[in-house]
Amino acid sequence: MKKKIAIYAGTFDPVTYGHLNILKRATTMFDEIIMAVSADNYKQTVFTGEERVKLIREAIGDNFTNVRVDMFSGLLIHYVEQQHACAIIRGLRAISDFEYEMQMASINSHLDRRVETIFLMTDNDHSFISSSLIKKVALLGGDVDEFVPPNVAACLRKKYEKRRGNE
Ligand code: COA
Repeated sequence: MKKKIAIYAGTFDPVTYGHLNILKRATTMFDEIIMAVSADNYKQTVFTGEERVKLIREAIGDNFTNVRVDMFSGLLIHYVEQQHACAIIRGLRAISDFEYEMQMASINSHLDRRVETIFLMTDNDHSFISSSLIKKVALLGGDVDEFVPPNVAACLRKKYEKRRGNE
């Protein structure tokens, strides 16, 4: 039987416990999940694509046998087709996410009708987290251990200590 592959794509700058919660739940629904890090710098990222991939790989460790971490650039739907995936996974945190996500799902569906976008509701503990918010807290010297895996927290501390040192 054909393997059911889904792509969980995002910027992941950096990956948070919210993302990892979505990933964990998606692993039970598909044979394989590819966590695909967008390499294109639409957003001014703090971490390079390679750093973001490394942080995710370290954070998930050996926890999943059916997760692969990769990087992509260009149109997401082209990457989905290239990987022979049947679905795109997205996390929905609040109503405010809905409009943007609806647009993305619609354009992707128009580009390839065979690919479904599956939305998972972010659990209550993580619904207020965003990567930008966490970076802001870290920049201002706050503790982010509750929101991101230890390797990410350590990297954020290092990154911002260096920046503060250069100012
Ligand atoms: N828990 C915590 N935070 C979450 C979350 C969750 N479950 N789900 C989303 N977020 C946050 C992210 O941290 C991020 O926060 P930030 O904006 O503060 O950085 C925000 O929600 C959304 O980011 P993310 O889920 O990473 O998506 P994105 O919008 O950055 O990236 C791509 C979306 C990369 C999938 C999309 O831009 C894309 O497909 N790009 C390729 C080009 C393309 O095909 N475009 C579509 C057709 S034009």
